[in-house]
Formats: sequence, structure tokens, C-alpha cells
Amino acid sequence: MVNHDHVEIIDHLPVLLKEIVQALALEVGNTVVDATAGRGGHAQAIAKVIGSQGTLVLLDRDQHNLAFASERIRSLPDAPRVVTAHANFCNVADVLRGESLRADAFMADLGFSSNQMSDPARGFSFANAGPLDMRLDQSTGESAHALLARVTESELADLIFQLGEDPFSRRIARRIIYVRDLGLLNSTADLAKAVVSAYGGKARQSRMHPATRTFMALRIAVNNELDSLETLLQVFQQEIAGFWPLPRADPGSRVTSGLGKKNALDEVAGLAAASASPSQWLDKNARIAILAFHSLEDRLIKRAFTSWERQGWATRLARKPLVASEAECEANPRARSAKLREVRIVGI
Ligand SMILES: C[S@@+](CC[C@H](N)C(=O)[O-])C[C@H]1O[C@@H](n2cnc3c(N)ncnc32)[C@H](O)[C@@H]1O
Repeated sequence: MVNHDHVEIIDHLPVLLKEIVQALALEVGNTVVDATAGRGGHAQAIAKVIGSQGTLVLLDRDQHNLAFASERIRSLPDAPRVVTAHANFCNVADVLRGESLRADAFMADLGFSSNQMSDPARGFSFANAGPLDMRLDQSTGESAHALLARVTESELADLIFQLGEDPFSRRIARRIIYVRDLGLLNSTADLAKAVVSAYGGKARQSRMHPATRTFMALRIAVNNELDSLETLLQVFQQEIAGFWPLPRADPGSRVTSGLGKKNALDEVAGLAAASASPSQWLDKNARIAILAFHSLEDRLIKRAFTSWERQGWATRLARKPLVASEAECEANPRARSAKLREVRIVGI
């Protein structure tokens, strides 16, 4: 529960708020999933539309954010019924089935919230000295420190190159492993220092802090963020395919990040239409909106939505993703990399 003895600040501006609410085409009484509740900014706007006859299902891997968001919604006048789950969003089907709910609309706002980034104890930021943690869910999983303790130099270089798209990945990895093997890699400050020294004189030419991409890559890896998204899209695909009596093979329907990790759900996706799902958790005309901040995430979403459209299972509202206006980017620099994609399911 949120501690009411101190006043907690929201410390996060929701990105593309109006656009997401509009894409979800909400109606009074709807059942809506906010799969990344965060600080409840999007959830609050949704709650105001669906009202006390509606149900808002909030998921988050971060227990603290989840509690904060649910308190924020429950304290609204005319608050909807709130169902919370401290869970990875790839478990959304189980959460909804467990509550005998069927979602009219679903949204996810990927990544991290500003309060997580600015809390030194979470270890997400090179700007704040703290432990090398970086887990969104601090109750489970491997920390960045543990990951860095076990990777080889070439694995780390690949990770920084693929997830961080940093052209200096090889020399950064070499430096980090050198510092680690000396026993001097124990905090976010140590990691940031290692990356800056790998950049050498090039650090001055870099527009962003040299450690930005390395920290992003490690956060994505620690939390298996691409795997979670890939699995979520497969879970949707399995449900949506079940809305159609005759399965059609589509070679483009396999959703993959291309990072070499095999997803067990890939194997069942093609068979989904043939096997009746245990119980329907998604409305046949559900609206789905996903906000991504990384090109690899956006690519996965685009591929999945395009494939569903090609199969006649869904319509995309636009071919290109929605991006934030210059005014929103000025007010909230985090909005700069945001890409919103929306789709409407057209089940029969
Ligand atoms: C960008 S913030 C969401 C902010 C929220 N829309 C708001 O307006 O306050 C992302 C949130 O999603 C959570 N998160 C990230 N990946 C997740 C996943 N796979 N499953 C559930 N929650 C996740 C993070 O812990 C964080 O709280």
C-alpha cells in the first residue's frame, strides 16, 4: 500500500495521453487493461471515461508503482472497479481469466517511469550513484551487477551493440570487463566511469552522455524487455486467431526480435486458431494501443499489427506510428522517442 504518512509525488508525465485515450475508443462501463500502470497517469484518464460502471485492470512489475497507481485511481470520484496484478504483462490472459474478465481495450506504455529513473536505489541512471540493480521488479530476477558478473566480453559487446546500438560497443565492453575483473565495478558511478573512459576523447563529441546507451541496453537485458513484449504479442495473437474459424498460414505472423532467443509461444502461435482457448479474455472488437520508446520494440509491434491486418484479423488506425508534438517534447523530453501504434480487432 502507498504510505500516506508522507506525500509521494507523481514524478512522471504520461506521454501522448489524449492520443492513447482516443485510440482506445473508450465507453462508459468498459473493461480496460493498463498493463504498465506506472504512476497512474494514463490510468486516471481512462478511469474518468469508463466511470464507476467500468473496470480498470492495472498491471505492473514494480509493486511500488502498482500500489501508487491503484491508490490514485481508487481515490477518484466515480472511480471504476480496480483490479491489480503485480505481474509481467505477458501474463495478462491469466490475470483476466482468473478474474473472469474480458477486456474491451488494452494499453501498454513500455519501459520505465521517471520516478524509477530518478531513484538512485534502483540503479537505472548514470546520473545518480547507486547499486547496479536495474530490475523493474525488485522482488525477483537477476540484477545488472549479477548479469555483469557472468557475461563474457563478447556477449557484453553484442548486448551493448544490439540493445543500445552503440557503435563503440566493443571498446566499452573491453573496458567494463577490465574494471570488473579488478573488482572495481560495484555501482552505477563505476559503470558510467568505465564507459566514459572507453569513449576517451570521443566523449566530448557525443551529444548525449556516453553511458546513455550502455545503461539502456543493460536495463533492457536485465528485465528481458523484448522477450516480454514478444510474448505479449504472441499471447494476443493466440487469442485473436481463436476468433476465426479457419486458420490461415501467414509466414509473416511469427513475431520475433531477431535476437536469437527462442520463444516457446512461437511454436503454438500457428496452431492457435485450431485450438479453442479455455475462456475468452479479449473482446472480439478490442482496441489495443502500445507506446514504445525503442526502435526494436516498435519494430516488433509494427510486425505483429501488420501481420494481424494482413490476415484480416484487425485494422490499424494508421500505417505510421503517432509521435508527440513539438510542444509535448518541449514539456517532456522523454516523449521525443515515443511511437504509438494502435489496432482494432475485427473478430467474427
Ligand atoms: C512508462 S511507465 C508507465 C507510466 C504510466 N503510463 C503513467 O502514466 O504513469 C512503465 C511502467 O511499466 C512497468 N513495466 C515495464 N515493463 C513491464 C512488463 N513487462 N510488465 C508489467 N509492467 C511493466 C514499469 O515498472 C513502469 O512502472
